[in-house]
Amino acid sequence: MLAIRKPLQISKILAQHKRAGKAIGFVPTMGALHEGHLNLIRAARRENDIVIVSIFVNPLQFGPKEDLKIYPRPLKKDLALCRFEKVDYVFYPGLSDIYPKNFSTYIEVKGLSETLCGRSRPGHFRGVTTVVAKLLNIIQPVNLYLGAKDAQQAAIVKRMITDLNIPVKLKVVPIVRDSDGLALSSRNAYLKANEKRDALVLSRALNLSKVLIKNGARDTKRIISRMRSLIRRNESAKIDYLEIVDPDNLRPLDKIIDKALILLAVYIGKTRLIDNILIKV
Ligand code: PAF
Repeated sequence: MLAIRKPLQISKILAQHKRAGKAIGFVPTMGALHEGHLNLIRAARRENDIVIVSIFVNPLQFGPKEDLKIYPRPLKKDLALCRFEKVDYVFYPGLSDIYPKNFSTYIEVKGLSETLCGRSRPGHFRGVTTVVAKLLNIIQPVNLYLGAKDAQQAAIVKRMITDLNIPVKLKVVPIVRDSDGLALSSRNAYLKANEKRDALVLSRALNLSKVLIKNGARDTKRIISRMRSLIRRNESAKIDYLEIVDPDNLRPLDKIIDKALILLAVYIGKTRLIDNILIKV
């Protein structure tokens, strides 16, 4: 495995592989790798000749009051995990490699970026799409791997790929949960032991929605209200949003007809966690 910092260097190496007809699979990350990331890497490993993982904590997608400064950066451990998973290249650029002096070009997907997480994290998705577009230009993979836990991010990147004719196939890999049901996230590291217990309320609320729908519930207001009451029973949980939307355009649904994406963001203490479930009726 080679770890490379410079965009030009990685572009040159990958161009050679492309010329040799190799399929390149790309897993963008902000490091602090967990089983969720490893699942993306394994999918990329299965489906491509060359696997590249990027590690870059992208300041552009953090709000001024968010956790950029304390975001975990265990680079050595991340590199060891990548080596273990037989990753071919890790691209870990420095800040100025991605945002050189006078950087002033941004990519913004209108509409989809302003709902759900976009409401409480203004500018977040503009940061994500800008960096992902840059990384795709540098790496030019055949396949791009993103996690289903960030369902809104995946929908936005999909839109960007279509709108900008970016020649890459997006693969969205299912959420990985721990044995209690908590969706894996680098931010789970912020949770104290009691908060980890409280955080289970997210997956429990999603499971409740699944049961209600299985038993015939279709009215989204009623489903949301039942989920909210379950979450409110937990004193340390504060709901940021809880919505049932059309998975294709993220617009709220009144009634569930064939498919629905149920998403929620909940603060457990100071940590904001997200989770979701895709329902097909
Ligand atoms: O999902 C993430 O870790 C980030 O948003 C991504 C896609 C690596 C862009 O910084």
